[in-house]
Amino acid sequence: MGVPIDIALPGQTRVDALALPLAQPLADLSGEGARIVDEKLGGRLRELAASGEFRGDRGEALLLHTSGDLDAPRVVLTGLGKRAEVDLDAFRTAAAVAAQALGRVGGTVGWLLDESLPASLPDQARTLVEGTIIGGYTPGRWKTQDTDKRPRPIEGIVIAHFETQELRDAAERAALLAERTNRARDLANMPPNELNPHTLAEHAQALAGELDHLKAEVLGPRELDKLGMGALSAVGRGSRNEPRLIVLRYDPPSPTRKDVQLGVVGKAVTFDAGGISLKPANKMEDMKGDMAGGAGTLHGIGAIAALRLPVRAIAVVAAAENLPGGDAFRPGDILHAANGKTIEIVNTDAEGRLVLADALWYARREGATHVLDLATLTGAMELALGDLYAGFFANDDEWRDLISAAGDRSGDLVWPFPLHERYRRYVDSAYADMKNSSTLRQASPALAAMFLEEFAGAGPWAHVDMAGPGFLERSRGDYYRVPGGTGYGVRLIAELASSLA
Ligand code: BES
Ligand code: MN
Ligand code: ZN
Repeated sequence: MGVPIDIALPGQTRVDALALPLAQPLADLSGEGARIVDEKLGGRLRELAASGEFRGDRGEALLLHTSGDLDAPRVVLTGLGKRAEVDLDAFRTAAAVAAQALGRVGGTVGWLLDESLPASLPDQARTLVEGTIIGGYTPGRWKTQDTDKRPRPIEGIVIAHFETQELRDAAERAALLAERTNRARDLANMPPNELNPHTLAEHAQALAGELDHLKAEVLGPRELDKLGMGALSAVGRGSRNEPRLIVLRYDPPSPTRKDVQLGVVGKAVTFDAGGISLKPANKMEDMKGDMAGGAGTLHGIGAIAALRLPVRAIAVVAAAENLPGGDAFRPGDILHAANGKTIEIVNTDAEGRLVLADALWYARREGATHVLDLATLTGAMELALGDLYAGFFANDDEWRDLISAAGDRSGDLVWPFPLHERYRRYVDSAYADMKNSSTLRQASPALAAMFLEEFAGAGPWAHVDMAGPGFLERSRGDYYRVPGGTGYGVRLIAELASSLA
């Protein structure tokens, strides 16, 4: 696995295409690299800018043949938009659009950096690498016809600059994160007849086999019963594909802080039909992506291990399939969760919080000090924030700030929502310690967070509701340009772990 990365001055390695990110106004041709390319091409860049054939808008790319005037046979111009508005996502998007433009070519691409732009060179390098690899992803793995029309893969990325350790580290780390992000996308895109709790667990075991200091353990129905995990078990009861609790432990040889263990907990409902509270048919197929939090969690801890970060971490992924059936759990049932609390079921489609309840308890029991859960939990969060930001709730100010910062830097964006004791009444039940849903159509993301808090134990905890950005119905127009899984969480988790180290 892995797109090879190189750092080399233009002319020192051959690439199939040289790529130039360009900001507006184009007339400046601000970067030294762009000026040299323009000169060698006899002023063609300025001509294209003057004629308006290339404008440099964000999301615009133009592929040119250099006909021997340059070492590289092709140049891709790719727009960053207005110079004053250039941010890290502008680089990621420019790179993704260039990668798509190179879909008929494939091969190697060399990126020219621009010192005059408002991002450090390592930040330019890492976001261009991320954008190239994430933007080059295709979800059509199951197509068997017209395979020649498939985009050709990018086989190597060169950062066209003299080599520094900082640039190399930034680019290699970005490639690793982007590839693992794409692997999480593969899981989310897998159809539910191929990906179920059992096959997801096998995937986790294979992942642990690839990486040093990462160990997998899988708990099946009997073990779940022994631990009293009545919430996770109930959700899985309607399906012949039985539930699993998938645990990955990363124990680095010399952690910076022995007293810290990051706990990441993921919802992996491999298909959410809603159970007895059946969902409408429209778009139900997208509920194969209801395991996206678990996928991000697995490959997030995989990234931590691959980067050899000196932070202890545990991932707990609660996998189940939520179907109606003769043995399915029902509205009216009262469940006993592993922490001893009882839950009245009002709606079997509010299943994510149930599988997470037992997984959160388990993460704490195994010594997690700082907990983060990731889940495609509520449709209302997608209504609120769309496909860009995930909303999140935290019980600790410092933890909230660390997560916000990790979100901004990583590209997995998060926006804080209020966790307030006075939302607790939304889950009050006449019969049990709490209910899993409410007929009130108010603040369902906050209600879910209050529910989860009952199982989060003592210490910093945050809940990320990624229903919007976890699985896309269509291109987002930025560096996610295809529908389906996004791998949301992989980069967030790696960044957060780095900030704990
Ligand atoms: N998996 C869904 C949430 C979801 C919806 C994710 C759309 C992504 C896109 C979750 O299990 C669910 O069904 N939530 C319900 C809860 C309700 C029954 C309280 C919802 O949000 O409608
Ligand atoms: Mn549901
Ligand atoms: Zn769900």
